[in-house]
Amino acid sequence: YREAVMIAEALRNCRHLLVFSGAGVSAESGIATFRDALSGLWARFDPARLATPEAFLADPELVWGWYEWRRQQVLRAAPNAAHRAIAELASRVPRLTLVTQNVDDLHERAGSQAVIHLHGSLHAPCCFDCAAPYAGLDTELSEPEQGRRLPPPYCGVCGGRVRPGVVWFGEPLPLATLEAAEQAAKQCDLMLVVGTAGAVYPAAGLAHHARAAGARVVVLNPAPSALDEVAHQVLTGTAATLLPQLLDD
Ligand code: OAD
Repeated sequence: YREAVMIAEALRNCRHLLVFSGAGVSAESGIATFRDALSGLWARFDPARLATPEAFLADPELVWGWYEWRRQQVLRAAPNAAHRAIAELASRVPRLTLVTQNVDDLHERAGSQAVIHLHGSLHAPCCFDCAAPYAGLDTELSEPEQGRRLPPPYCGVCGGRVRPGVVWFGEPLPLATLEAAEQAAKQCDLMLVVGTAGAVYPAAGLAHHARAAGARVVVLNPAPSALDEVAHQVLTGTAATLLPQLLDD
């Protein structure tokens, strides 16, 4: 209860709220996280074979098929109470910046605007060779099987192979996107770190930036995370349980 009062007060006094979300925010929409034991994607699939530029060059059909399988799961999924609460928070504070590591569009579908996607999007593929955006993705639900191989389309500009619009291991984050996120981290006075293991940098570095710049940092997670030690406060629970409670106070 004391915890809730502290955070309600922080929210009331807050001028610029930064919400930093990870896969845990979409977990209650049925989208698998990456690092949770058993249910996490990286417990079942080898990122070296699926989430690097080398993997795409070696086996584009395996990689494209796997991302299409994930995109189809997202198309089937709906935003949950956590996504909706974050969208609602935007009307409770003078300024809210939402930075997500998630490659789904559930924040947008819950009504959040100007979402900063640090790791790209499943819904914005582009050419592997010339980076031109590709607009021909099928938005119909099909019946993909797990691990189904699928040839990626060809780029209409240069004829190269189209790749998923996500950041892979070994690739830099889009510079302007990272800079916008880091600027928000340095300017915010309250940061909510929701549903992330805090294991992937530079994304996780945002919490350090915010803390160093004097913001109050609060972690919301059902399990311990690598950012607990950076936080002033750790709230233990799921995103869809905790975030709506912040709106009640
Ligand atoms: P992880 O899978 O590493 O961590 C998920 C976090 O969500 C864990 O801390 C869980 O405890 C927590 N969690 C699980 N269920 C939850 C729930 N219902 N509510 C709240 N939290 C819950 O996912 P991320 O930290 O987002 O990179 O992973 C970071 C990046 O690593 C991803 O963006 C992806 C991956 O490789 C790229 O795609 C580039």
